[in-house]
Amino acid sequence: MRVIASRPFPGAAWEELDEAEYLDGSLPDGLGGERPGVEALAVVGETIDERTLELLPDLRVIANYGVGYDGIDVEACARRGVAVTNTPGVLDAATADLTMALILASRRRLVEADAFVRAGKWETEWVATTLLGEEVSGATLGIVGLGRIGRAVTQRAGAFGMRLLYTKRERLPGDEERELGVEFRDLDDLLGEADVVTLHVPLTPSTKGLVDARRIALLRDGACLVNTARGEVVDEPALVEALTAGRIRAGLDVFADEPNVPRQLLGLPNVVLTPHLGSATAQTREAMTRVLVGNLKAAAGGRPLPNQVI
Ligand code: DGY
Repeated sequence: MRVIASRPFPGAAWEELDEAEYLDGSLPDGLGGERPGVEALAVVGETIDERTLELLPDLRVIANYGVGYDGIDVEACARRGVAVTNTPGVLDAATADLTMALILASRRRLVEADAFVRAGKWETEWVATTLLGEEVSGATLGIVGLGRIGRAVTQRAGAFGMRLLYTKRERLPGDEERELGVEFRDLDDLLGEADVVTLHVPLTPSTKGLVDARRIALLRDGACLVNTARGEVVDEPALVEALTAGRIRAGLDVFADEPNVPRQLLGLPNVVLTPHLGSATAQTREAMTRVLVGNLKAAAGGRPLPNQVI
């Protein structure tokens, strides 16, 4: 099967695909024109629209490296009979770990503290009021979206002694709520009650701008918003405004127009910024490659695709 990839993916599994060639730039121009005979694309986050699909008349599968496939026009793929696969399951722990890292960094002001030491500002032995943060243990965490990653966050945050609220399109049965140690709230109520809010919903037409200016205003003074999902789930200009006013804190791994981070955020002490690192551990990235290659091999062998999303 002829595969075009947007880049080589890390780990030994990638070497098992001996026929992969690479894009020469972004899509669709990176294809260099119409490419009959190419049956598979391996991508991560690239925009794949009608123009790209038109240049690939024999395409059968798009294998996305990652769980979110919001860059892919799935309706256009469905119309053309092109399957789309993703890499779920293997990145939950890493993404949940990063979520906890952002919660801890934000509540305990780790980035400010690191800058303080590096700038030589630690002059007196110990001051009782230097860089005071907020407790994590005992704080209320609001989890927006309780899929695999949201559930991995409940395990970690529960171990930190956090009280757990969640919101989800469909409420869980009572026994499952008890098992996870979570209490259901409507989104608006959750935003007004939590000390920390963490987002774990995919980007879809119904979640785009879900946390809009009205909802940002519902966050308590000093609350922290953590986003390891997708930047466009939040109204970014409204978030920037609330952060610039110093009313809330945030830990942000994702942005509306990556890699462009709003300039106003760069000098703010109340926001921790990371460059879309949710799944960025060597083990997880290799596991994602294994899953992606598994999907491509199944397509080549005419077998059911293990992680077909459409
Ligand atoms: C995902 O899996 O969707 C991550 O954000 C990587 O793109």
